[in-house]
Amino acid sequence: MANTQALNSRELIDLIAERISRNSDWRDGFSELLNHISSRLATPTCFIRLYHYISNHYLDLVSTHSDENNLVVDAVFRQLAEDRTPVALPAEYADYLVDGPQYSVVGIPFIKNDEYLGGLVLAGNNGAGVRASHFHELLAISPYLIPLFESAVLQEILLSNYLEAVETLAVALEAKDFYTRGHSNMVTAYAVAIARKMNLGPRMIQAVEVGAMMHDIGKIGVPDEILKKPGGLTREEFEIVMRHPVIGEEILKPMKHPLFDIPRQIVRWHHERLDGKGYPDGLQGDEIPFPARITFVADAYDAMTSERPYRAGMPMELAFAELRKNAGTQFEPEIVEILYNLMMPTAGEISAAGASGKGEKKK
Ligand SMILES: [Fe+2]
Repeated sequence: MANTQALNSRELIDLIAERISRNSDWRDGFSELLNHISSRLATPTCFIRLYHYISNHYLDLVSTHSDENNLVVDAVFRQLAEDRTPVALPAEYADYLVDGPQYSVVGIPFIKNDEYLGGLVLAGNNGAGVRASHFHELLAISPYLIPLFESAVLQEILLSNYLEAVETLAVALEAKDFYTRGHSNMVTAYAVAIARKMNLGPRMIQAVEVGAMMHDIGKIGVPDEILKKPGGLTREEFEIVMRHPVIGEEILKPMKHPLFDIPRQIVRWHHERLDGKGYPDGLQGDEIPFPARITFVADAYDAMTSERPYRAGMPMELAFAELRKNAGTQFEPEIVEILYNLMMPTAGEISAAGASGKGEKKK
């Protein structure tokens, strides 16, 4: 029943459009679209790439096959962006002519108001090509797909505008707080490396990246004389510093994009301890969202190992001894060990090196 349905079914397009606008991630909607096209046209592999036309680059590839790395497909996408006209590469083998004319690869560009929004590419393999009739069917429905591409590309452009605003804020903080210049970048690098090692999805890794970059943004609201005081703080001064997670969350409140839900959690809870003795809310254990637990470890590690004008950085071994001593009370033990294996892979478990693609030593 379903396979007799015309490809240009309004219901399908409406469904995907709804997915793309409702979902914070357009990849899911396009994945569904590709699966439908692939089964309807019996085409081995389908690919979609969106094009960020403000900064002129392609975004992630969405395809029916994971880890698809095809040089011809890449070349077709490049040609679509340059020429903005459909591409059809003829099949090389006579067998392909059994079902009428066939192509090895076809590509369709999507354009609105003179802006290139991305392309759809179908590729044959293992003796199966893309039938010319199917290519023409896709060309016929492609105008109906333009709003989907436009909606997803605008979503990405909006997101990158938000991210630029975030970077501006982070730079503003570093300009104010000279002594921690570079700290946000280091914490972000550690937190993202940990998130990758935990096999989190691309959206979550991006959220951790934004949250870690912003984690101390609330320090914009802490007076300079306290922030820049080289020695110890009085109890009153420390209480003022302890307000920075709440101030930071307030700063991020106007960021309505769903990507900022996790960063807001990181900003508010990156000083919460597993034993409930952290601040500002005294959350315990699993009450603390794990992206905040990741950032807490990354933050503590960088604070200990980085140099300050008034003291040298602590050696890595001592910093890890400190993190391990406080694992279970302050820090999540698993996250401490992941960072340890990342920073000191030769001392870490062999399996960690294997998982990072560096290969295992044979015994
Ligand atoms: Fe902080």
